[in-house]
Amino acid sequence: MSEITRRNLIASGFTLSASSLLARSAPALGAAPPADFPEGAAGSVPAVAPREQLLFDFGWKFIFGDGADPAKDLGFGFGQSDFAKTGEFKFAKAGFDDSKWRRLNLPHDRAVELPFVRDDSGIGGDSALRSHGYKPLGRRYPETSVGWYRREFEIPAGDLGRRVWVEFDGAFRDVLVFVNGCFIGRNDNGYAPFRFDLSDFLAYGGKNYIAVRVDASFGDGWFYEGAGIYRHVWLTKTDAVHLGQWESTVRATVNGGSSTLALATVVQNESKQAANARVSWKILDAKGAAIASAEAPAQTVAAGGSATCSATAKLANPALWSVEEPNLYSAIVTVESDGKARDAERISFGVRTAVFDADKGFLLNGKSVKIQGTCNHQDHAGVGAALPDRLQGFRLAVLREMGCNAIRTSHNQPTPELVEACDRMGILMMCETRQMSSNAEGMRQLELMVKRYRNSPSIVIWSIGNEEWLLQGAMAEQGAKIGSTMVRLCHDLDPARVVSAAVNGDNEKGVSEALDIIGFNYGQDRPGPFHKKYPKRPLYGSETSSAISTRGEYATDPLRNTVSSYDGVVPWGETPEGWWKFYGTRDWEAGGFAWTGFDYRGEPTPYGWPSINSQFGIVDMCGFPKDYFYYYKAWWRKEPALHLFPHWNWHGREGDEIPVWAYSNLDEVELFLNGKSLGTQKVPRLGHLEWKVRYEPGVIEARGSKDGKVVLTQKCETTGPAASIRLTADRTEINADGEDIVVIKVEGLDREGRPVPTANNKIGFKVSGAGALIGVGNGDPNCQESDKEPRRSLFNGLAQVILQSTTRPGEIHIEAVKDGWDGPELMPAKLAITTRRVELRPSVPVVRE
Ligand code: GAL
Repeated sequence: MSEITRRNLIASGFTLSASSLLARSAPALGAAPPADFPEGAAGSVPAVAPREQLLFDFGWKFIFGDGADPAKDLGFGFGQSDFAKTGEFKFAKAGFDDSKWRRLNLPHDRAVELPFVRDDSGIGGDSALRSHGYKPLGRRYPETSVGWYRREFEIPAGDLGRRVWVEFDGAFRDVLVFVNGCFIGRNDNGYAPFRFDLSDFLAYGGKNYIAVRVDASFGDGWFYEGAGIYRHVWLTKTDAVHLGQWESTVRATVNGGSSTLALATVVQNESKQAANARVSWKILDAKGAAIASAEAPAQTVAAGGSATCSATAKLANPALWSVEEPNLYSAIVTVESDGKARDAERISFGVRTAVFDADKGFLLNGKSVKIQGTCNHQDHAGVGAALPDRLQGFRLAVLREMGCNAIRTSHNQPTPELVEACDRMGILMMCETRQMSSNAEGMRQLELMVKRYRNSPSIVIWSIGNEEWLLQGAMAEQGAKIGSTMVRLCHDLDPARVVSAAVNGDNEKGVSEALDIIGFNYGQDRPGPFHKKYPKRPLYGSETSSAISTRGEYATDPLRNTVSSYDGVVPWGETPEGWWKFYGTRDWEAGGFAWTGFDYRGEPTPYGWPSINSQFGIVDMCGFPKDYFYYYKAWWRKEPALHLFPHWNWHGREGDEIPVWAYSNLDEVELFLNGKSLGTQKVPRLGHLEWKVRYEPGVIEARGSKDGKVVLTQKCETTGPAASIRLTADRTEINADGEDIVVIKVEGLDREGRPVPTANNKIGFKVSGAGALIGVGNGDPNCQESDKEPRRSLFNGLAQVILQSTTRPGEIHIEAVKDGWDGPELMPAKLAITTRRVELRPSVPVVRE
C-alpha cells in the first residue's frame, strides 16, 4: 500500500482488524526496572588539554517570541534594518532587560511544556497538528513557535589569541545566534550539529552576551520533533593551531590475531605565521593504559592553511568490539608546534569487522549475528526531545532486556550520547540522516553525521533516508542520481561502512540503485523475488512490523482509542510473529528493525485526537513493556522465558470466555485455573500459545517445561483495588552533577501488596531536597495530563517520575500521595535517593545577578 493511501486511511478514522473482542481491558504490569546500568552513564568523552570543552547548558534565560508580530518578538524584524550594521542587536548586549525571562538549564524542549491543542484542519488531508502530537507549533501558531534563549558569560583575558567556538549538538529548528550585538550565524534543520567561531566577537577579560532565537515554525518530519535547544551546547576553546572538527579517524583492520590502525587527522593553522606541526597518537586500552603510539612526519602548515597527517599503529591481540563484549579503545591525538602541545582530542573506537553477505546475512567479527533491531524516535515521557544523557542508557537497557541488539535512528541523526551509549553497551546502529537530498543542505547534514560518528564501532549502516516515495517511484531517475551522490559522499568520508536506505517502493530503480545493501520497509512479498533476481545483493528489513497495542488493554475499542495487546497491527504491517518468522529464519536476510521499540509522541496511530502518541511501541512512552515485548524476549534471547497474559481482573465478566496467551521458548506449557489444569500445549517455534478460559476470579498459572521438567511458572491473580502506592527507583544513588537522573516506577498495590493491573488512580508527588522533578508519564497514548506538573494518573497500574539531581550532594525525597479529595484512600509512599559528590564536567560558570 502506498504511503499516501495508508496515511489517508488513518486520517479517515479507519479502524483495525485486530481480532480480540474483549469488551474491557487491562494489563500485565511493567517488568522490573532495568538493573543498574553503569554503561549508560552520563557524559561525552572528556576533552583533552590543552583543548577546553565547557558545557554551556546552565544558567540560561528563556522567553517566548512571536513568529508573526515583531513587537512581541523583541522587536526583531520590526522594520527592515535589523541586519544593516554589525553589532546593533540590543538583546545580545549588556543592559538589555531580561528580568522577566524564565531561568532554565539546557537541554530544553519547550514543545513538551505546551498544552495539547485539537487542530485537525488541514490542506490536502494533512492534519495541522496531528503528526507532531497536537502541540501548537507551526506557522499557524506564531505565538508559541518562537523562543529566545539568553545568557551572560565571561571570557578570561588569557583566552585572547585562542579560537573560541559555540557548538550546538542540535536544536529545533531554525536558529539565529547573536553574540555581543553581532549576528553570528544560522542553522536550518532540527538534527545536525552546528558551530560558530566567536573569537573575533568576544570581549576578553569581560562579560559577553549570547542570544539565540529558535523558531519551530517549520518541521523536518511527520512525528514529534520538540522545539528549542534540546541537545547540549558547548563552548570550546583551542589554540590557533588546532585539529579540524571531526577530522580524526581511526580505522582498524583485523589481520589474524592483530589489528592495524590507520590513523589520520587534519591540522588547521589559524595563526598569522606558518606552523611546524607534529601530530602524535597514543592508543589506550579500556583501563586507560597506553598500549601503542604513532607519529606523523612533521609538516609545515601555512598561515590560514591546513594539512592532513597520518600514521599507522599495530595492536597485538586486540579485544574485539562485539554485542556481547563491547570492548573500546581510545586514541589521544595531539598536535604540537614549537615543542608545545597546541590541541588534543580523544577518539573512542573499537576493533571489529562488520560484513553484510548476500547469502549469510550479517557477520560481526566473522560470526553470524541476526539483526534483532528496533526503529526509534528520540523522545521520552516527561521530557520530550530533551533527554538527560542517562536516559539514553536507560532506554537502551529496556530494549536490550528483550534481546534487541540493534537500533535504527529513524529518521534523523542522533544525539552523540545515544551513539556513545550504543558503543558502550554493544548495541548495533543504523544511523540515518534526515533529508534525502543531494542539495547543499542534504549533503551538509549527511557529511556532518558521517564525520562525527565514523569512529563509532556500533554503527554498521549509514542510511541516506527513509521512504522517499517519489525518488523511489515517479522521480526514480532523479532518485538514482540523488542516491548515488549521497552514497559517494559516505564512501569518500568512510570507506569502511555500507550505505543503505529504508525503501518501501521500488528496490531496483531510483534511490536503491547505488546502495551497498538493500533495505526493505514492509511488503514481505518483496525481498524473496528480489533475492532470486539479485542473488549477490545483501538484504535486510530496514523497517518492519508496525504492530500496535495499548499497554494493558485487551480490546480494540475505537471509543476509548485502545488497541488489543493480543494481535494489534496496522494493515501494512505484521505482528511480531508475522515478521520474525520471515526475517528470523532465512540465512540471506540479515534480520531487521521493527517499527518501533518505544512509543513516541505524534503520528498517533491508529486513532487521532485525543490520542497524542503512536501505539507502535513494543514498550510504551515510559519504557514499560507491552505484552509484545515478551514475544521478542522469548525468541530473541536464549534464556528460558515464559509470559502469561492478560491480567486476571475481569470483575463483572464471570463466565465469559477470555483468551489466555503465553509467549515462551520452552517445550510445552500447562495452564491452570485455580489449581485445575486446562491442558498442556506444545510451544510452536516462533509462535505463541492460546487457551480460551471461562473467567472466574482467582489465579491463572502457566507452568513451562523443558525436557520434561517444569523450569518456569507465571501467575496472574485477581487483585483488589489499589490501597497503597509503591515507588521503585532504578538506582538509589546518583551523581550530584545537575544532570544525572533517577527513573521512578509508580505502582498501585492492593491490600495484599499485589500490583493492580487496572489501577488508574491519580497520584501527586512532593519532591524536596537535592533534586527536582523534571517529568512524569504513564504510557497512556490518550492521556493529556501535563508532563511537567507533579502529578499523574496511573495508567493500568503504572506511572513514571523522572527526578534530576542538583550539584549539591545530599538526598532527594519524593513522596507519592493520592491527588485530590475524591477517589479511594491510598497509603502514601516515600523514597529517598542519595546524590553523591562527583567531579563536575567542566562548564561555563553561571554569572550570578
Ligand atoms: C513508515 C514510516 C514511519 C512510520 C511508520 C508507521 O512508513 O517510515 O516513519 O510512519 O510507517 O507504520
